[in-house]
Amino acid sequence: MEKNGIEAVKARISIVDVVRRYVDLKPVSGRWMGACPFHQETKPSMSVNDEEGFFYCFGCQASGDVIDFYMRINGLEFREALEQLAAEAGIELGYSAPDPHAAERKARKKLMLDIHDEACAWFKRNLRMETGRIARDYLSRRGIAAEVIDKFGLGYSPDDWHGLDRHFRSKGISQEDSVLAGMLVKNEKGNIYDRFRSRLIFPIQNLSSKVIAFGGRIISEGEPKYLNSSDTPIYKKGDHLYGLNLARPSMTRTRRAILTEGYMDVISLHQFGYTDACGVLGTALTPDQVKRLAGFCSRVDLVFDGDNAGRKAALKSSRMILLQGVACRVLLMPDGEDVDSLLQTHGRDGFEQCAETAPDGLDFCLSTLREKFSPREIMDWAKGFLKDLGDSSLRAYYLPRIANGLGLNEAELRQNAGGAWSAQTTRAKKKPENNEAAQTRPVGKDDKDDKYFISFPIQYPDYIRDLDKKGFERILATNWAKALWEKLKTQQPGADILSRLNDNEKRFYIRCRERLRENMLSGKQLLDEWEHICNKIASGQQRLNRWQLKEALLQAQQAGDSQRIMQCLRALNESLGRDDEQH
Ligand code: GTP
Ligand code: MN
Repeated sequence: MEKNGIEAVKARISIVDVVRRYVDLKPVSGRWMGACPFHQETKPSMSVNDEEGFFYCFGCQASGDVIDFYMRINGLEFREALEQLAAEAGIELGYSAPDPHAAERKARKKLMLDIHDEACAWFKRNLRMETGRIARDYLSRRGIAAEVIDKFGLGYSPDDWHGLDRHFRSKGISQEDSVLAGMLVKNEKGNIYDRFRSRLIFPIQNLSSKVIAFGGRIISEGEPKYLNSSDTPIYKKGDHLYGLNLARPSMTRTRRAILTEGYMDVISLHQFGYTDACGVLGTALTPDQVKRLAGFCSRVDLVFDGDNAGRKAALKSSRMILLQGVACRVLLMPDGEDVDSLLQTHGRDGFEQCAETAPDGLDFCLSTLREKFSPREIMDWAKGFLKDLGDSSLRAYYLPRIANGLGLNEAELRQNAGGAWSAQTTRAKKKPENNEAAQTRPVGKDDKDDKYFISFPIQYPDYIRDLDKKGFERILATNWAKALWEKLKTQQPGADILSRLNDNEKRFYIRCRERLRENMLSGKQLLDEWEHICNKIASGQQRLNRWQLKEALLQAQQAGDSQRIMQCLRALNESLGRDDEQH
């Protein structure tokens, strides 16, 4: 079962060992501390707890277990991260529902990767041979250095309809598989031929530096200028970024990514020392790509042409990046230049000049709006942006800035745009969570109280059993806290609690545990806290009783049962008296 797989991975892999690969960790008074790789930071703000298996950043509140860390730092999906860590630890991941095609799919992916590997080697060889002279000349005319040609694994596909086809067959790779891999094309007539002919080849690699697709630039005249692989079992357009695997080490250091549109732009940037550069691949930037980047950097420097089309693309891209809570700047290239040509003619100075004057992403969006959009469009943009922010703390961050940038009054913008996002939340809040919750009238009024209450059993799990006996759930007001309490009280000793918690719960849990280290209650303090919570539970019980008495009183009044009325009134009086004594 997958759950066992997760527990096994966490039991066998030390989070400190994994974090250490990316962050310099030092022991500080009994814990491991280092600079957080998830926000701009040089001071050691991240703490890693080996015993409990989590990390926590005091600066940006990033937190999670070893799998979360690995996902985020490598821009992987959960499944991918789990599989890679499991492979490292030599753990076989079973599946709860065995998929009869899983093995087949895995074998096919492996075959696709092998085919790309073989093709890549062949393209590279061609570039070095006589047939590749034309491509070598082209590269040197464009000022591309030998090191980056190697680093990016550039190659050449000769002017031949069947060169790769013949090569594959000599290696025992079938035409059918080569077509599936997108390396050969089969037309309607059934003829099969090489997809890339007479092109400079740019291998596209995933984060594990496996070649998963190619881009090809025509060398002499011809259409299209750039040709990319089609979607295959190992490649989906819009999922990957060109050069990300090569740029990642720098990005985690600089916390910045330079994002550009062209293959040649990425290569030139690296050649001129900007090794944190990567490229979108012939499509508009996608949210998936932004998520990938967000794992490594806090700021994206977007590079776009200075023309109208470039500005439009910059507006869309910066919006997408800001929505994910990542900062960005917009570098618009001078007329008729792209980064590649800028660097080749003006060197780093030319680029730095552009960077110096580059506006912040949000400022760029707002000033573009003010210049080019109607008042109606501006308001729609602002409302849409605030609505699309999934995270309400980000909303609090952006709202005053947007209001300010558009010359609006903050309260008015909040009110005006409010309908866009608060409609569902207020509705959800007003709706009683369930009948039982309404009846028990918990002591805690809201989320904040619940957070305070539930942090106690998280920090002092020895008390969970007693709290349960006393009816702890009665003082919890929200479904959120109740669900978490349910997990806490059913927790088996020694088992991994983190993998049973959802993201929200996990963040909260880790924060509580981390606070405990700062401020562990002892002796008298702990006893006071315990009594305080017991009192709360007791007063919760009293309120419940009183509520039940009032209901009973109402019923007795309706039924005209005077004896029962008197009974209820007496009981109510007594309970109120008890309450007074307490105050
Ligand atoms: P060079 O002319 O080699 O410097 O390329 P460039 O990157 O300057 O080209 P351009 O600005 O025209 O295009 C930017 C990027 O868009 C390219 O790097 C490609 O990724 C993509 N692109 C350009 N032309 C085509 C095309 O005809 N087809 C496809 N699929 N993508 C293209
Ligand atoms: Mn160019």
